[in-house]
Amino acid sequence: MSRTTLIGRGAVLLSLLALAAFAQTTGKFGDAALGTQRYDDFERPTACAACHVDIARQHEQAMMSQAFTHSWDEIEYYELAVPHAEKDPKVAGVKAGCNGCHAPFSFLAGDVPPQRPAAKTRANEGVSCDLCHTVIKGHGDPPFNFSWEVAPGKTKQGPRDNVESPYHKTQFNAFMKTGDFCGTCHNEQSPYGVYVKATHLEWREGPQGKGGIQCQDCHMPPAPGRSALMGGTRPDVRQHLFHGAHDPGKVGGVIEVRIHPAVREVEPGESLKLTAVVVNAKAGHKVPSGSAEERVLWLHVEAKDAAGKVYHLRVDRKGFEGEDYTIASDALAYQDIGDIKGIPDFPGLKRDGMVPAGDRIFRLPYLDPKGRMTIAQWNTASFGPDYRLAPLQAVSETYTWQLPGAMPAGPLTVTATVYYSRLVSSVAEYLKVPEEEWRPITVNSHVTTVNILP
Ligand code: HEC
Ligand code: HEC
Ligand code: HEC
Ligand code: HEC
Ligand code: HEC
Repeated sequence: MSRTTLIGRGAVLLSLLALAAFAQTTGKFGDAALGTQRYDDFERPTACAACHVDIARQHEQAMMSQAFTHSWDEIEYYELAVPHAEKDPKVAGVKAGCNGCHAPFSFLAGDVPPQRPAAKTRANEGVSCDLCHTVIKGHGDPPFNFSWEVAPGKTKQGPRDNVESPYHKTQFNAFMKTGDFCGTCHNEQSPYGVYVKATHLEWREGPQGKGGIQCQDCHMPPAPGRSALMGGTRPDVRQHLFHGAHDPGKVGGVIEVRIHPAVREVEPGESLKLTAVVVNAKAGHKVPSGSAEERVLWLHVEAKDAAGKVYHLRVDRKGFEGEDYTIASDALAYQDIGDIKGIPDFPGLKRDGMVPAGDRIFRLPYLDPKGRMTIAQWNTASFGPDYRLAPLQAVSETYTWQLPGAMPAGPLTVTATVYYSRLVSSVAEYLKVPEEEWRPITVNSHVTTVNILP
């Protein structure tokens, strides 16, 4: 054997050792993990799909596989976040940081900003199998800002002990079964140090979190079957559904509403008081949660008299501080879009978009460093009042209505409807976000009647 072959072999061995070492954890997490791995250290979801067919097909339909590619993410990142990061040193970190949760492989590979989705780089894989299944632990209490730590390689972290796979090793990992695992990305702090995404914190403080019901129990419920083609049949295979705000079936019914009048009979010209009760009956966190800066959840109440005339009822004020943010009006907001895009004297956009003036909005107003409402969560320095719906809690709204002096006798039908839109319509239209990203859906509605006396 020649000396050069020996050296060659030594080099190969060394580089294999280096690879093995590299495939272990670097001990880094969060911002410090930027550029500590290579794309090639992670497998593509197509590799896993060969055996984990159903899980792969489910995950393809879930938003986390599209966290980098879907249109609103692309627009917000490239048209607002990146230009803003390049001009304002305070938020410079988000150019890389957005990818820590939305395109973790590109973040770990130091490929930031990645090319646009059309370039089909591996950033497009979003939050994929080999990211979640190589997370060995999380950091921080609470966890936030992608504070997971990965050890890519042939060992996949999973929820079971003693599982056999012909393709990879498996390692039981109790952390994966906890809401804290999800919290590494579902809590976010802005560069101003405030929690601009707090789904995990809301859950932890709520009845489901306190009762030990994990995120996985609602978003990855177990079903009998097999998780892999040659795997064992099990009573409780975790489904990778992860459906949330983008699934009308998940959002539909999530808020319940009932409305009743104080009296069943009134005369025209009298005052009528109605009470609507809304309940977050099914979510394990507030609604809206997560990207609350851009979601709009509102209650609309209308009455229709016996002749078919429709009246819009305005919600009664409760008088708490900052309440104006929670009652739809023609106010303008989002002026920071002008700062970011360099448009002088940008007046702003309609704060409440298409929501009729006088309707109650269940929201948490995000305020930029100048105190103006913003949809740029990374540019958030403080908040208005948190008027969202907490899990398993009800809120009542009253409507005091001075009836017109002349009204037809007979039944007056009052309808309370809860609507949900993922993105305030004025912002969506201004930034040309496709309508399917923000078209409102009806969450629930309820009807009551009052008899108008002659
Ligand atoms: C050649 C087939 C095959 C391929 C390819 C494959 N797996 Fe598996 N995997 C299996 C089998 C079989 C099991 C065992 C399932 C069982 O018995 O429940 C398994 C189990 C698992 C488990 C569960 C471990 C546990 O603790 O419960 C995880 C997680 C997993 N695979 C992730 C992956 C990921 C991620 C990929 C792609 C990088 C992948 N697998 C590719 C066959 C495969
Ligand atoms: C957002 C993180 C995440 C992604 C992405 C993800 N998984 Fe999982 N997966 C989990 C968690 C968490 C569990 C365990 C849930 C539990 O048991 O509480 C799990 C469980 C599994 C299991 C074991 C199921 C069982 O009950 O036996 C397999 C196999 C698996 N995943 C494969 C995959 C494959 C393949 C992909 C990509 C197509 C994928 N996962 C994508 C988080 C993820
Ligand atoms: C690596 C970061 C990361 C981890 C870990 C993670 N998520 Fe996500 N998740 C995201 C991102 C980013 C999105 C936003 C996707 C998009 O752009 O719409 C998201 C979106 C979601 C959605 C919303 C889907 C919709 O229809 O709107 C649900 C539900 C969800 N994740 C559940 C979970 C659960 C449950 C876990 C833990 C088992 C988890 N996630 C772990 C990053 C993560
Ligand atoms: C008791 C069941 C339950 C639990 C527990 C639960 N969720 Fe949800 N989640 C829901 C329901 C129902 C929705 C749909 C309503 C909505 O979009 O707010 C939802 C919606 C979401 C959304 C979309 C929120 C929005 O408004 O954009 C995300 C993200 C999410 N869940 C993540 C999580 C994470 C992360 C955890 C754990 C920290 C968790 N969920 C715990 C039931 C649950
Ligand atoms: C700590 C993790 C994390 C960071 C950092 C992060 N995001 Fe997200 N992002 C999420 C999660 C989780 C969701 C889903 C929340 C929900 O469904 O309510 C989300 C949702 C979104 C959505 C809404 C998707 C939709 O269709 O509703 C957009 C747009 C978005 N992020 C853009 C960004 C941009 C731009 C940045 C950087 C300035 C960023 N994100 C930073 C975790 C993160």
